[in-house]
Amino acid sequence: MEISLNNGFKMPMMGLGVAGMRKDEIKDIITNAIQIGYRHFDCAADYKNEAEVGEALAEALESGLVKREELFITSKLWNSDHGHVVEACKDSLKKLQLQYLDLYLVHFPIPTKHTVKPAVNQIETHPYFQRESLVRFCQKHEICVTAHTPLGGAAVNPQVFGSIYNVIQDPLLEKVANKYGRSPAQIALRWGIQRNTVVIPKSSKLKRLEENFQVFDFELKQEDMDLIKNIDKKYRTNLISTVAWGIDIYA
Ligand SMILES: NC(=O)c1ccc[n+]([C@@H]2O[C@H](COP(=O)([O-])OP(=O)(O)OC[C@H]3O[C@@H](n4cnc5c(N)ncnc54)[C@H](OP(=O)(O)O)[C@@H]3O)[C@@H](O)[C@H]2O)c1
Repeated sequence: MEISLNNGFKMPMMGLGVAGMRKDEIKDIITNAIQIGYRHFDCAADYKNEAEVGEALAEALESGLVKREELFITSKLWNSDHGHVVEACKDSLKKLQLQYLDLYLVHFPIPTKHTVKPAVNQIETHPYFQRESLVRFCQKHEICVTAHTPLGGAAVNPQVFGSIYNVIQDPLLEKVANKYGRSPAQIALRWGIQRNTVVIPKSSKLKRLEENFQVFDFELKQEDMDLIKNIDKKYRTNLISTVAWGIDIYA
């Protein structure tokens, strides 16, 4: 399933986030993911694994597992590279062993006047951080929203973010999951897709790569979409402001 962007290109609504993957696991994960059907990979210079992702992609392309034009590859401009975008982009391309990217995001945009409408706004959003008005604003202006951390992932990584809530253990999500015979993670992802947002969960586990991809063969009823609306806690897990920089950031 794909979404049309305002520049005429299409983006698969399910992507694999590669942040935090162990370098020695990446080749297997990417190969397995392509075999499962993932075509969209969310990368970034700051994830410091572009070279390993690039090796895995090169092998998949050379072996004929997938064609370049079937893939949608995103990378991101890091904060210290705002002054030399072309060089940073070329560096990502070299590491990823690609001739072109499908999407190049500013990893952490800072407030300034922009004259070009972006095709995609990648933001944290999941059932505990729904950001309904921002999602609607973007969609009204034909800016595709990509939901990063769509499982509230930092909450399942409390050692990294010190989170207290775990989205995929929410009792309501568990109840809805039982109703559809799915997992709470699948319900969170399907909810994201039905909001017309692209979702990019990360998993290093084969079983979960499969589980997260199996969200296109069922549909949540409106009554369940409405129930999930009620569990919003306006809870941001990516608390970047606590780690750095002293400026307002938007992600
Ligand atoms: N633009 C930005 O500033 C930004 C910020 C954050 C994230 N991102 C992007 O979003 C992607 C995803 O973010 P994220 O990793 O923070 O959060 P996430 O995808 O919401 O959650 C990932 C966590 O959930 C676990 N998980 C995955 N599938 C699961 C399942 N079916 N059941 C139970 N647990 C499951 C994973 O563990 P296992 O790996 O052990 O399965 C991992 O700990 C990143 O890789 C990155 O590409 C972008």
